[in-house]
Amino acid sequence: MVVGEAGTGKSTFATHFLKAGADLGEVGLYVSVEESKGKFFDNMRRFGFDLTALEARGLLIFHKASVQEMRSFLDQGMVSFEEYFRDGRVKRVVIDSVTALMLSYGGESSQRGALMMLFEMLERWGATVLVTSESDDGEARFNVGYLVDGIFHLYNRKVGQERVRSIEVLKMRGTNHSRQEIVYRLGNGGISLYPGEKVLV
Ligand SMILES: Nc1ncnc2c1ncn2[C@@H]1O[C@H](COP(=O)(O)OP(=O)(O)O)[C@@H](O)[C@H]1O
Ligand SMILES: [Mg+2]
Repeated sequence: MVVGEAGTGKSTFATHFLKAGADLGEVGLYVSVEESKGKFFDNMRRFGFDLTALEARGLLIFHKASVQEMRSFLDQGMVSFEEYFRDGRVKRVVIDSVTALMLSYGGESSQRGALMMLFEMLERWGATVLVTSESDDGEARFNVGYLVDGIFHLYNRKVGQERVRSIEVLKMRGTNHSRQEIVYRLGNGGISLYPGEKVLV
C-alpha cells in the first residue's frame, strides 16, 4: 500500500511498479478509480513513461473503473476482472486508489471488510497487488495496515519556504528494510531517490 496526500507521487510510484514488471515481460493491470486513461497517460508521459507503447506491446492493461463498478465487482466476485487473469500473464495489479471505494462504505468495519474482500479476490489470481491510498494529514486512513504486506508513505513537507518530498518504508514483511526517510524528486524518469540528502523538519 502506498499512502500519501494528493500530488505526492502515488500514481507515479504505481507506474514504476508496472514498468519494472513490463521490463521483465510481465503484464500489468492498472485499475484507475480516479483518472481517465487520456489524462493518466498524458501525466505519465511527462515523467517519460510511454504507456501507449507498453499497451501496444500487450504489457499494460488500463481499466477505468468507477466506485460503483468497483462495488459491483466486489459483490459479484470480481467477474469483470477475471478475463484479464485467464491466461495467467497478469502478474502485477495496481488499484489507484482504494480511498473513494472505501469511503462509499459506511462504518469502519465494513470499509475494512471491503478491502479485505478485494485483497482475497486478487490473491486468488496470484498477482502482486499495489494499492494507493489518499491521506489528508500524512497519516494512513481506515487502519488497514495489518491487511497488507508492505506500507510506503510519501510525504511532501514544508521545510522553511520549500517543500521537500520524502519516502519511508513503514513495513515490509520478510525484509530487513531501511528505516530511513529518503528524499526523492519527481521529474523526467519519474521518482528519483536522494539517499544522501537529509530531511530536516
Ligand atoms: N514534469 C514534471 N516534473 C516534476 N514534477 C511533476 C511533473 N509533472 C507533475 N509533477 C508533480 O507530480 C505530482 C503528481 O504526481 P502523481 O503521481 O500524480 O501524484 P498522486 O497520485 O499522489 O496525486 C504533481 O502534484 C506535480 O507536483
Ligand atoms: Mg494519483
